[in-house]
Formats: sequence, structure tokens, C-alpha cells
Amino acid sequence: MAEAPRLAMSRLEAVRLLRRDPIGLLERAADLGDVVRVRVPRLDLFVINHPDLVWDVLATDSRAFSKGPTMQAAKRVLGESLLTSEGEYHRRQRRLIQPLFRNERIVGFAPTIRELGERAGNRWVDREVIDVREEMARLTLGIVARTLFGSGIDEAETVRIAGALTDVLDQFDRVFSPLLPITERLPIPSTRRFRRAREVFDETVYGLIAERRASSADGDDLLSRLIRAQDLGPGMTDQQVRDEAVTIFLAGHETTSNALTWTWLLLSEHPDVEARFHERLDDEAFVRAALHEAMRLYPPAWAIGRRALSEHVADGVRIPAGAVVIVSPWLLHHDPRWWADPVSFRPERWIDDGEAARRHAYLPFGGGPRMCIGEGFAELEASVLLSTIGRTWRFEHDPAHRVELQPVVTLRPRNGMPMRAHCAPRGTSDPLDPKDPPGSETLSEHVPRPTSDGR
Ligand code: HEM
Repeated sequence: MAEAPRLAMSRLEAVRLLRRDPIGLLERAADLGDVVRVRVPRLDLFVINHPDLVWDVLATDSRAFSKGPTMQAAKRVLGESLLTSEGEYHRRQRRLIQPLFRNERIVGFAPTIRELGERAGNRWVDREVIDVREEMARLTLGIVARTLFGSGIDEAETVRIAGALTDVLDQFDRVFSPLLPITERLPIPSTRRFRRAREVFDETVYGLIAERRASSADGDDLLSRLIRAQDLGPGMTDQQVRDEAVTIFLAGHETTSNALTWTWLLLSEHPDVEARFHERLDDEAFVRAALHEAMRLYPPAWAIGRRALSEHVADGVRIPAGAVVIVSPWLLHHDPRWWADPVSFRPERWIDDGEAARRHAYLPFGGGPRMCIGEGFAELEASVLLSTIGRTWRFEHDPAHRVELQPVVTLRPRNGMPMRAHCAPRGTSDPLDPKDPPGSETLSEHVPRPTSDGR
């Protein structure tokens, strides 16, 4: 059996790079082949980067893998939920919850999404610089709060939940620290804050669950639907409902807000596409194409981890049980083998080109039995927000602000995304509109290391 090529660097260097520039590390690995071994202390890591081999891991042989160490650590916040659980438990939860996310059940959320999008837009002032990342985060948080908990909760409670959740979110990266088992026991301020935030959040969610259980009304919010979800056996316990609700809250918020932020950035960098976007706001296919193209270039879930439960063979290479496998939508989406002119932002490729060629080379929502359950919800939410906001606003990126990637759990822009809001969409009278706007054509100036063509 073949040996995987190894990234030629010391374990210490690999750890440093993994912390400082994990996407750079993945790209260096991918330059060596489709199955590459990276030695890091306490971790036997394999990077797999071919659509067919990736599909084996996520789908065909999915039962031979568990979630990676990140998701195992996330149990501290999320408990046993769809995102973190394994095996039969996961399959039952998925069966129970999947019907809640069917298209015909989620389209009913569109008016709420539109209303909250319009309300956000009403707060902005023409030509003022806003942090688009922060605005999109606040908006998607509000939307997940409303769709999950319904309009029944009052403003004060929404603020309380959002505050507690933000505190939990702020601490989320800490959850993945190898020092957590130690710091968690110390009565240091950050630990106290974390515990307190979790308590406030749990208290509120358990309170809402108790209210729903006591009420005879058939609420249409996701929490009520989770409580009612049943297959052959009994429904979920309060704790299971809590774990799923917290997971949906977390998983459904930051990913979508990042997808929106990157879409606004790309539109502002490509005035020709931006103009077509504003002309074709009623054309759902075009709006979705712009979103798909933005998620191709900036996949919010940039890496997906798994742990091999037994030996796995990928392209003739032996991957031992216990090894961690990373598959990366970032790598697949920028690979010139699957995409013509991979770094250019061209929504039309989603309309003009056939789908077949990119089989499994486009995986913003993952694949197989652990594929994102919220895909339909996220696409509905993002496309409704893009067209609602796009009717009144466009955003101009300040070229002096350097866009940097911050690949944490999701792919965020480091230091936010300051952009100037313009009330009139391009094409209507907007005196400050530069005649010949800068920032054309390709992404390359923003992508720290564009994929090399030589692969
Ligand atoms: C643009 C937005 C989104 C992106 C890019 C995204 C991406 C992903 C990916 C890649 C996975 C698979 C992870 C893995 O295989 O380890 C996943 C799983 C999941 N996502 Fe999303 N997601 C998005 C929005 C949402 C929304 C809106 C919700 C809920 C309302 C959601 C809920 C979940 C849940 C519960 C799982 C776990 C599914 C399971 O393992 O059965 N996501 N997401």
C-alpha cells in the first residue's frame, strides 16, 4: 500500500501554521497530492482533497468515521445534538428533526425574514460607514431568535437571550482550546462569565420549553415543532430539545451572516456583476447564483473534520484508525481542476455551465448523512435578505481596509467589514458613484494564497 506524501515541516512548525494560517497549511498540503499526511503533536492528520475521495469520507464510508475533535469539544456547549452526536442517537435525532426543515415548512418564514431585513435597512443612514459583518450577524441572530422562539417572547427576553448567546459565542473559540479542561475548573473571570452565560441561556430556553409544554396552542416556531417532533416512540426530553435548540441557534447564525458579508464584499468589488444583481433582484435564480458563487469563494464552513474509527484506504493510501481527516470546501472550491478561472467571481457560471462537472467539488453544506440540515433554511434566508436589502442598499468597500481571512469555526473576515452604505442601488441617481470604480475582476488581491495553477 502506498505511503501518503508528508508535509516537510517539523511538528512544531505545523502547529504554529495550524494556529496562525490553517488555510495556508491546507494549501501547502494540497500542493503535494490528494492524500497528504501532516504530523502535529498528538494528532495524526490527513488532508484529503479530491471530490471522489472526499465523498467516500463524508458519504459512502461515513459510518467508518466519527466527527472530529472540534465537534467533540463543542459538546460542552451544545450537549448531545445533531451537530455533535454519533451513531444511532444521531440517526434518530435526524429522523425526528429533518421534517421540520423541509422546504414547504420553512418557506413560511420568508415574510419574517423580509420584515427583519427591511427593519435592519431602516437603521442605516445613506453614505454612512457600517460594519457589514456586524450588521449581518445581528440580523441573522434576530432571525434565528424569531424563527426558533416565535414572536411570543418579548423584546426584553430577546435581548437577554441574544446577550447570553453572544457571551456563549464569544467564548466559543475558548471551548476548542486544549487548555479548557484545566481553565474550566479555575474560578477565573472568563470561566465565571462562560458559566453565567450558559446558565442564563439554559434558564431562558428551559423556561420557554416549559411554557410551550404547558400551553395547548400549536405554535409554529421551531421550538414548538421540536417539542412536538415524534416518530414511533416518545418525543424528545427537555434536555434534548434544549441541546437541539442551542445547536440550531449557533449553527444557524454565524455561517449565514458570513455568507452574506462575503457576498456584499464580492458585489462591491465587481461593479459589473453588482449592476446585474440590482437589475435582476426579482430573478431568484440570479440572486442564488451570486450567493452560490460567494460561498464557493468564501465557504463559511471552510474545513470539515472526521476521525477514522477503523483503518480507511484513500487512493491506495492507508489511513490508520484514530487519525484525523480534514476535508476542505475551501480547497475543493478553489481547485483549477474543477473550476475554470477559479478565483474569479462569476455568478453566471451557476446558470450557464452544467452541474455535472462540479459533482462533489462544491460542498459548502458538507455531504452525506451529516450534511447541513439547515441548507434550505440558509439559502432561503440569505436570498431573501440579499434581494430585500439590495432593493434599497448597496455597499461600497473602502479599498484602504485590508480584507483578511479569519478561519475560526467559520470563515470570518478579521476586523469586520467596514463598508459605506449607499441608499440608491447602482444605476439610479447616486452622485457619489465613482465613474470608474476600482476593484475589478478577480479575488486574488484578497485571497492570501490563491491556489496555484500547477496542481
Ligand atoms: C450558509 C449557511 C450554512 C453553512 C455554510 C452551513 C454548513 C454546514 C456544514 C458544512 C455542515 C456539516 C458539518 C459536518 O459534516 O461535520 C453543517 C451541519 C449542520 N448545520 Fe449548517 N450551515 C449553514 C446554515 C445552517 C442553518 C441556517 C442551520 C439551522 C437553522 C444549520 C444547522 C446545522 C446542523 C443542525 C448541522 C448538523 C447536521 C447533522 O450532523 O445531522 N446550518 N452545516
